[in-house]
Amino acid sequence: MSTKIKALLATLPQGQTVSVQGWVRTFRANRFIALNDGSTLGNLQCVVDFENFDETLLKNISTGAALKITGSYVESQGKGQSAEIQVEDIHVYGTADPDTYPIQPKKHSFEFLREKAHLRVRTATFSAVMRVRAALSFGVHKFFQEEGFHYVNTPIITGSDAEGAGEMFRVSGLDSKNPPLNEDGEVDFQKDFFGKETHLTVSGQLEAETYAMGLGEVYTFGPTFRAENSNTTRHLAEFWMIEPEMAFFDLDENMDLAEKFIKSVLQYILENCHEDLAFLDERFAKEESSKPKLERSEMGLLEKINFVVKNDFKRVSYTEAIDILRNSKPNKKKKFTYPIDEWGADLQSEHERFLVEKHFKTPVILFDYPAKIKAFYMRLNEDGKTVRAMDILFPGIGEIVGGSQREERLDVLKERIQAMGIEEEELWWYLDLRKFGTAPHSGFGLGFERLVLFATGMGNIRDVIPFPRTPQNAAF
Ligand code: 4AD
Ligand code: MG
Repeated sequence: MSTKIKALLATLPQGQTVSVQGWVRTFRANRFIALNDGSTLGNLQCVVDFENFDETLLKNISTGAALKITGSYVESQGKGQSAEIQVEDIHVYGTADPDTYPIQPKKHSFEFLREKAHLRVRTATFSAVMRVRAALSFGVHKFFQEEGFHYVNTPIITGSDAEGAGEMFRVSGLDSKNPPLNEDGEVDFQKDFFGKETHLTVSGQLEAETYAMGLGEVYTFGPTFRAENSNTTRHLAEFWMIEPEMAFFDLDENMDLAEKFIKSVLQYILENCHEDLAFLDERFAKEESSKPKLERSEMGLLEKINFVVKNDFKRVSYTEAIDILRNSKPNKKKKFTYPIDEWGADLQSEHERFLVEKHFKTPVILFDYPAKIKAFYMRLNEDGKTVRAMDILFPGIGEIVGGSQREERLDVLKERIQAMGIEEEELWWYLDLRKFGTAPHSGFGLGFERLVLFATGMGNIRDVIPFPRTPQNAAF
């Protein structure tokens, strides 16, 4: 049996014989192998007495090679580590030719590593990011399970395209070279696999609502797809979303839950990812120090995470936010690309970031948006012009959560559907929820990669998901 390096580093070195398996990070002076097995950030130093080993065997050891090493685990003689292995036996599972293996022990740019996404997890930064991502994902399930929520799996292929959250990808089994045509000469989707046009889902919300209306409190955690051509550091065409949906919750309770949820998962990684977060904190500090002063983050990574965990999010209505923005310096000096002059304007990320990073300097929950700029399912307020929507805005990220109290009144919902030009028949099952035992309910969606982005201090969303899908890119 071999031992995980993480477990080994947590035990006292007393000369016991152990075996470890992993990949070589560096091999120095024909003597020091730094081995990493992914269980932890740290490498294990393995000291080779080269006189005891065959030269051809040692030639096979280079960065990237996979090894099994057996030896005695002892206190380190050298500086830089407290324990090491005095190597007695080496088995080489697989070599990595240094002339062609792309991940060498030097600084690679993230752009370069994106092209080697199948190998980049063998670097310290990506392994740290992906361990934090995995821990966050466990933290998500832990939080909802402990709150009594039921995990539901909503469909990935959807026959309804009424959500309106974004452009969709079509799913089709038709022969693209020779699709069947209808009388009007258009592609006949009745002859397609599902007998109708289908797409990849943009959100599991509408289906989650049906389950909340029976299980009470549910959440989804699954992939969602958007075919928008947004080539930014915050957008993916395929991303993971967490969507809780709660019967009998109003908007205030919805905001309370969202805030408690975010704090809880961040607290979870603070408690369980010390080493990785300390490493990422240092990386973040280095990165920031290379930026012009005005663009630097005022806080370090750990400081930011702690700040979010310890402070109340600021709750501000859309109307108040518009007042603040209208009277803001960048607006008056015409610094915004989209100047704010009227109530009703949709907020762009420049406005969201001004509110969060310059004005409030804390996460902000904006609520009660104009009905016109929000989805049909959000509950209409008494004023007839705003809806019970809420977005959570984060420093450096912008929108991390979008949610609302749902419209549970059949007549009002029907009016909104009509006003937005959506076919009522398409949503017959959604309307049924309002016919049979309708009840107030609320929910929200949190973009998982945006959370990982915040928690790891990385600068580009493409670097917090194993294989990013973005316009013109679906490699691997
Ligand atoms: O605000 P959105 O579009 O809300 C919904 O889809 C609702 N149905 C959610 C709900 O109420 N159940 O998306 C929710 C979140 C955003 O706040 C953002 O964090 C993330 O999903 N998101 C993206 N993340 C990465 N890439 C994209 N292209 C994203 N679009 C949205
Ligand atoms: Mg949104």
